Amino acid sequence: MSDALWGGRFESSMDELVEKFNQSIDVDQTLFYEDIEGSIAHVTMLGDCKIISNDEAKQIILGLLELKTAYQNGEITFTSKYEDIHLNIEHLLTERIGAVAGKLHTGRSRNDQVATDMHLYTYKKVKIMIDALNLLQQSIITSAEQNIDVIIPGYTHLQRAQPILFAHHIMTYFWMLQRDKERLTESLSRINMSPLGSGALAGTTYPINQQQTADHLKFEQIYPNSIDAVSDRDYILETMSNINLIMMHLSRFSEEIILWCSHEFNYITLSDAYSTGSSIMPQKKNPDMAELVRGKSGTVAGNYIGMLMTLKSLPLAYNKDLQEDKKSFFDSLETCIDSLTIFSGMIDTMTVNKNHIKMTIEQDFSNATELADYLVGFGIPFREAHALTGKLVGECIKENIFLKDVSLDKYRAIHPEITQEIYSILQPKAAVERRTNFNGTSTKSVLAQIKQGKSKLT
Ligand code: ARG
Repeated sequence: MSDALWGGRFESSMDELVEKFNQSIDVDQTLFYEDIEGSIAHVTMLGDCKIISNDEAKQIILGLLELKTAYQNGEITFTSKYEDIHLNIEHLLTERIGAVAGKLHTGRSRNDQVATDMHLYTYKKVKIMIDALNLLQQSIITSAEQNIDVIIPGYTHLQRAQPILFAHHIMTYFWMLQRDKERLTESLSRINMSPLGSGALAGTTYPINQQQTADHLKFEQIYPNSIDAVSDRDYILETMSNINLIMMHLSRFSEEIILWCSHEFNYITLSDAYSTGSSIMPQKKNPDMAELVRGKSGTVAGNYIGMLMTLKSLPLAYNKDLQEDKKSFFDSLETCIDSLTIFSGMIDTMTVNKNHIKMTIEQDFSNATELADYLVGFGIPFREAHALTGKLVGECIKENIFLKDVSLDKYRAIHPEITQEIYSILQPKAAVERRTNFNGTSTKSVLAQIKQGKSKLT
């Protein structure tokens, strides 16, 4: 007979490579605490329902708690001989408390057990992700408030477009992350469902109390269908999809950070704690964290597609393919949480180079729309004002000057009623402060926006 815990009908033991290929312990040991938690809930219920005696339940629970302490003390080694976390724990328990450990698996299958572990784990991690999002949102708000007086060029096509507040620009990321936070929060009800008691797929003949185990593990509801309960991995894919959106947002943010700390932009300087150097070029200070986040956004996108491909075409109910749901999922969760946390520190410690930005915003044509709008004030149709301004910009480029350097005479040639006032109209600060609409870039609007943002922080 095979000595595997399921070896009753087997005459010989596994091929060595098959054992290596079949095991999942090197990945699913991550679920140690959830597995212990789920088992304690299950065995407590077995005792309360008189499926096993109260004394047996007590022995098993004590054994599981001892295992937990031993694990915390680093005294436990897992082995691929026992395949996965569930069988490893059952084996370790048997070593500790003897044959009574064999009663733990009454009325349960590894199929509802692993699903329970995964639901518990996902719920915990999504909560941590929500907190990490909130932390980064806080960092963004702080930076927006500290730099409320900074005007940068806003870009379209990565060409200077119109002056905007730095705070307005960076708050864009706040709202992206807010949508991410809302998506994760809304997903919690689908994650927080109990598959425990569904057995292998069909339910169980034992008089179990599923409400008790669900309550014990703080699940909001029990899967109405036992087959769905053991084969559903939608909540994993949904979480990975949400992670993809978060990482895509961070990747866009990363790209800007990388541009901004280049010599060409020089809008920000990152703290040494969030930068690295070059092994050959002594002058280098590289934004590696932002680059890694940008790179890892690709990795988690691949993880998502991998999971989708694993799930597609699977017949009901449990198939061993589902064992593949862990590695890339755990990786995506960790990557996302770490990226959010690192980003928050990077934003908290970066310096906005106010003086340099002030100098550069004076030396561009991002105030051209202001001139066109000013001409409209004299009754000139916008299309014509646009053409007149465009022509003047073309001439300035040839003369290597900016709109603020054009003489009043030249402006009066465009329209005789133009006065000295044009020079204040053209100032970036004035351009910003005229945009007082609800979601515009004026200081007043942005301060109101920040206030609205603060109400979303938890
Ligand atoms: N290690 C397995 C997994 O992660 C546990 C469930 C195994 N179930 C089975 N019927 N072989 O999916």
